[in-house]
Amino acid sequence: MAILGTDIAHAKQLLEQGQLVAIPTETVYGLAGNALNPDAVLSIFKAKERPSFDPLIVHTDSIEKIERWVTHFPKALKALSTAVWPGPLTILLPRNELIADIVTSGLETVGIRIPNHPLTLSLLQSLDFPLAAPSANPFGYISPTQAAHVNEQLGDLIPYILDGGSCEVGIESTIVAWENNQLHVLRLGGLSVEVIENLSHQKVTLHLNQSSNPHAPGMLKSHYAPRKPLYIGDIDQLLKQHTGKRIGVLSFQHAVPDINIQRTLSTKGDPHEASKNLFRFLRELDQSDAEILISEFVPEFDLGRAINDRLRRAAYSE
Ligand code: TXA
Ligand code: MG
Repeated sequence: MAILGTDIAHAKQLLEQGQLVAIPTETVYGLAGNALNPDAVLSIFKAKERPSFDPLIVHTDSIEKIERWVTHFPKALKALSTAVWPGPLTILLPRNELIADIVTSGLETVGIRIPNHPLTLSLLQSLDFPLAAPSANPFGYISPTQAAHVNEQLGDLIPYILDGGSCEVGIESTIVAWENNQLHVLRLGGLSVEVIENLSHQKVTLHLNQSSNPHAPGMLKSHYAPRKPLYIGDIDQLLKQHTGKRIGVLSFQHAVPDINIQRTLSTKGDPHEASKNLFRFLRELDQSDAEILISEFVPEFDLGRAINDRLRRAAYSE
């Protein structure tokens, strides 16, 4: 098992040696390595069993540092990221030669973000290289929102986990690109489309990849998935359809009477509270005695859109 702690100097030392450290962010925990060291980046792919076509996000702490690794920083993206960072937004920028092919799966753009977590921000400030960090889970499984989640699955593969408590946002960052003078959202996430449109004074285009054989990588139809079958729809109907089985229920606002194994995302009906709880509850249900899991969609606004996106991918089967 990995050691858990809050020793930034130790984390820095390991990263400088090319080792991996799990880091807390406001979205989910990341599995971090030196983004300028191709061997360290390769070991991230190995630990996660992640296919090489799925590019990594690079994390740092300032716009000045970002300018060192990109050839161009479109004004609209700079304005948006300045307003949001540190925060749950990743932007795609044209990379220069310091960012190796392995980081971006050969794409000409690199995904970059400044995450909002005090421990990780201090760590990043102390480093003169950025950190490549995908979510710290085996490829395809539910993302971790607590240090213990990382330790359960990757603890034998990494020396240290910076323990920053529970992630406040709970789902991954929203990924945005600037193309043809327009903002495009490539992955729904912890920054809602409504907030992006308000801050940028423009409508965004959604470009969510639905392919299961992606040429725009990463947005696989099946992702964030529990091991148990997950069905989504009307909870009462699903309960009837699966009578006789041990069922775990994930509801949005209202618990279901007479069900032993269940979680409710937000009794207040707050999409932010729901997103904070989503992955932890899915994990807990996956580890419960239930044979199958059922869930309902949440209202399709604010972070509810990203939650529904994750539920759809978690439930997808070929
Ligand atoms: O909130 C987050 O973004 C978390 C924390 C740790 O920062 N990270 C995260 O990383 O979710 P990961 O690897 O699980 O998801 C990154 C996704 C990739 O699957 C890919 O779809 C997309 O980001 N991505 C990265 N670079 C890209 C690029 N150059 N072009 C298109 N998509 C890219
Ligand atoms: Mg991930």
